Amino acid sequence: MSHNTIEENRRRSRLADDDEVWLFGYGSLIYLVDFPYLESRPATIRDWSRRFWQGSHDHRGTPANPGRVVTLIEEPGAVCGGVAYRVAAPVFAQLDVREKNGYLRFATEMEFADGNRDTGLVYIATPDNEAYLGAASEAEIARQIHASAGPSGSNADYLLRLAESLRELDLVDAHVFEIERHLLRLASDRG
Ligand code: SIN
Repeated sequence: MSHNTIEENRRRSRLADDDEVWLFGYGSLIYLVDFPYLESRPATIRDWSRRFWQGSHDHRGTPANPGRVVTLIEEPGAVCGGVAYRVAAPVFAQLDVREKNGYLRFATEMEFADGNRDTGLVYIATPDNEAYLGAASEAEIARQIHASAGPSGSNADYLLRLAESLRELDLVDAHVFEIERHLLRLASDRG
């Protein structure tokens, strides 16, 4: 599969222009909201875990020195917290460009804080995409993040803003917080 998923996403999901769709965001879509939306709510999805296992060549790294960003990994019983946005279907044209480095739109069920459920879409970079980096220890991931930057800024900024946003949402993510702990140590060693 090519890195660039724009065409694939267009083919896979046919939405009418007047559709309104829930989008579940679990990474930068939580804190970098540069798209219009009609409503947003904290939400969770089941059986997926957030992991810094996807490479970023276009936003937080370069082709020669990719950064690491989050994707979702199937894990029965896991609960991943994030933010759901109700968006007008044409907004996906813009989102597909932003998420083009390996992410495909998948249908998912999500649960809102009040217990209500609805279906929507989520961008996931699956292990068969070319930019996928896969598992590594939290210490190794922190080292790679510490050393990476791309057109959207430093990879450290991506991680730190995500960790801060999760805390603001009262969400605990041991993987993210452990990488943050290693990264802050690396940053202070330097200074
Ligand atoms: C997301 O935030 O939902 C997808 C991954 C990212 O853009 O960081």
